[in-house]
Amino acid sequence: MPSSLPKFQNFLNLDEFETAARLLLSPMAHAYFAGGACDQITLRENISSWNTIKLWPRILQGVANPDLTTTLFGHLAALPFFPAPVAMLKLAHPQGELAVAKAMNQLTLPYFASTMATTTLEDVAQETKSTSAYFQLYCFKDLALTKSLIQRAEQAGFKGLVVTVDAQSLGKREADIRHEFHLPTPLKLENLDYQSNLALHAAKGSGAERVSAHFDTSLDWKSLEAILADTKLPWAIKGVLHPEDATIAASLGAKAIFISNHGGRQLDGVPTALEVLPLFAKVLKGKIEIFVDGGIRRGTDIIKAILLGANGVLIGKPMVWALAVGGEAGVLKMMKILEDELRLGMCLLGCSSLKNLDNRYLFHA
Ligand code: FNR
Ligand code: LAC
Repeated sequence: MPSSLPKFQNFLNLDEFETAARLLLSPMAHAYFAGGACDQITLRENISSWNTIKLWPRILQGVANPDLTTTLFGHLAALPFFPAPVAMLKLAHPQGELAVAKAMNQLTLPYFASTMATTTLEDVAQETKSTSAYFQLYCFKDLALTKSLIQRAEQAGFKGLVVTVDAQSLGKREADIRHEFHLPTPLKLENLDYQSNLALHAAKGSGAERVSAHFDTSLDWKSLEAILADTKLPWAIKGVLHPEDATIAASLGAKAIFISNHGGRQLDGVPTALEVLPLFAKVLKGKIEIFVDGGIRRGTDIIKAILLGANGVLIGKPMVWALAVGGEAGVLKMMKILEDELRLGMCLLGCSSLKNLDNRYLFHA
């Protein structure tokens, strides 16, 4: 690392990781990780929407050590924020997925392994033995491939499946097209077959888009139900923006819902998680776990998400920047900054437990 680069151990906030990572990554890798779809309206609004609501603190509540625990798939989690499933992490750092998995293992926090990883799900499972790992599933045209991924996840000891349903067709990411995004050899999508990888290695247009051409665009509730019929693993749906969809998923047995617009990378011009969360909470709070992601960069963003009805949140791009800058130690530092901000935020808000967060802590003018 050139000596002019800031030392990540002194970083004070998540944005500093982004600035540092931009200097380290190739323009193509940076464009893939940072970019959004089309005019990137949703990408920008994901960040700004957390600033549209205000917290309303109470004084003299004697809060010194707030309870920051939550549940995920019914299991206790020491903190309510986790790295999101993100594809191709070896493009960010040579240790890629394993560095993040090791960090989560140390923190005994859940790890979400992407189908589109540059490390096999079996290797990830090895590194997350002391904690729980969840497999993020994409559904392929080749049903046998989808089913074999589920079976491998079961055999490797994953605790559940998170089925991502908002990217059966990949969003129009103009930065990827311009940079002719491809996965440089020898990196591979280790969970997938030769054909999918071939599409990704060829440079022209966006390779990610060509891999997603293998996704099942005809996927619907019925075929999803059939895909999940044989597994005993609990499952969740990721990429939901409409509460009616969440209600359907709950009726089919989903254990959790991940409200997400995929970090602004899919359909541009959709609501942010914060905007739709109250609609979900109204019908589903207490019935099913609700997680949100998109633009969460501060401990106070996490507080806002939870007081509006979420059980916890996922962190996407900042995890990638922290990985790029410092590998496992970078991810640990990023997590520590958020934990400290969250704890301080709860003390300053005068709220002793995430379980007590609700609309009373929201300022209405
Ligand atoms: C993603 N995301 C994603 N989601 C998923 O279910 N499977 C995947 O393989 C990926 N891959 C992926 C790659 C990159 C580069 C990004 C930025 C995102 C979406 C991710 O899980 C999450 O929903 C968003 O990243 C959250 O938004 P922020 O935190 O990045 O603003
Ligand atoms: C992405 C996919 C792979 O957003 O989830 O790039």
